[in-house]
Amino acid sequence: MKRVAVLTSGGDAPGMNAAVRAIVRAGVDRGWTMIGVGHGYSGLLGGDFVELGARDVGGIINRGGTMLGSSRCPSMKTEAGQRQGVDMLARHGVESLIVIGGDGSQKGAFGLATMGARVVGVASTIDNDLFGSEVSIGATTAVDVALEAIDRLRTTAASHERAFLVEVMGRNCGYLGLMAGIAGGAEAIVIPEVQTDPEKIAAELRACRERGKRHAIVVVAEGAPYNAERLSAYFREHGARLGFDLRVTQLGHVQRGGDPGGFDRILATRLGAAAVDCVARGEHGVLMGLLHGKVAATPLAQVVSQKQTLDHDLLALAQLMVR
Ligand code: ADP
Ligand code: F6P
Repeated sequence: MKRVAVLTSGGDAPGMNAAVRAIVRAGVDRGWTMIGVGHGYSGLLGGDFVELGARDVGGIINRGGTMLGSSRCPSMKTEAGQRQGVDMLARHGVESLIVIGGDGSQKGAFGLATMGARVVGVASTIDNDLFGSEVSIGATTAVDVALEAIDRLRTTAASHERAFLVEVMGRNCGYLGLMAGIAGGAEAIVIPEVQTDPEKIAAELRACRERGKRHAIVVVAEGAPYNAERLSAYFREHGARLGFDLRVTQLGHVQRGGDPGGFDRILATRLGAAAVDCVARGEHGVLMGLLHGKVAATPLAQVVSQKQTLDHDLLALAQLMVR
């Protein structure tokens, strides 16, 4: 009987559980033995393998985080670590491994594949920085979580006639910042992909004030050279006239926590089941993602060597809305 393992790696993302459920159930449906690997690559290297049946993944489609646990595992970045991973799969009689995770996790998957393991990736990261999927599992829920916070900040900002710098996650990718900025009606958006002049941000806030705005929200991506801390420090040091009293809120891990929205549950179910189809076809060394609205497989070699590009038209759209 075919033995197929699944692991979740890197930063957890809402919808990872739904993907695990889909993979286990689609595999069980084919009569395969499905194995969950605990705590990402740490569990792979340490032999943390447990058999999973359809019932074991019941009641998790709606739950955030990952029932399998996740980790950052530095030794997977080494050849010796990857060799150990391949050996562990062989020792447990695992023919194929499905890796649910982001950019770094898919680099690990590619490393294993390069050493001969049969690996299929599933795109999952709130950062949405993976080449090969226009949207990764967890990203839309994270945008919604950021939005709830921004909406709340807006009411207190308006009451006190303040500006808020709201820092969102995303590593080096501006997706979360851009989406939360557009949907949250931000007065300015600061993302790594676009060079930021703090004086220009200050001037934009002043202009908002002069146009009669009683509050301002600036969404700042954590990976921007001027993240929230540096931007507020710049304003303090240079005595920038903003026209508003300024406050800073860092949303942090709140964005990764909590239950997945409907879109992420469906996406995870589609990508998880498609990964199992891929294994069944004998196809491997690919990432399952969503391209032009359809589930598509992209070679891991491409995924690890290219970056998701940001839609600059969306940034222009956000700027057009600031009036
Ligand atoms: P994410 O997958 O969410 O981007 P990380 O970048 O932290 O999260 O990567 C998760 C794990 O993937 C790392 O802890 C490491 O085990 C593995 N990994 C990351 N980068 C590489 C790499 N260049 N080569 C091999 N494995 C990697
Ligand atoms: O990759 C997901 C992510 O949440 C990034 O947005 C963030 O920079 C990072 O993980 C935080 O990592 P950690 O959970 O290790 O603090």
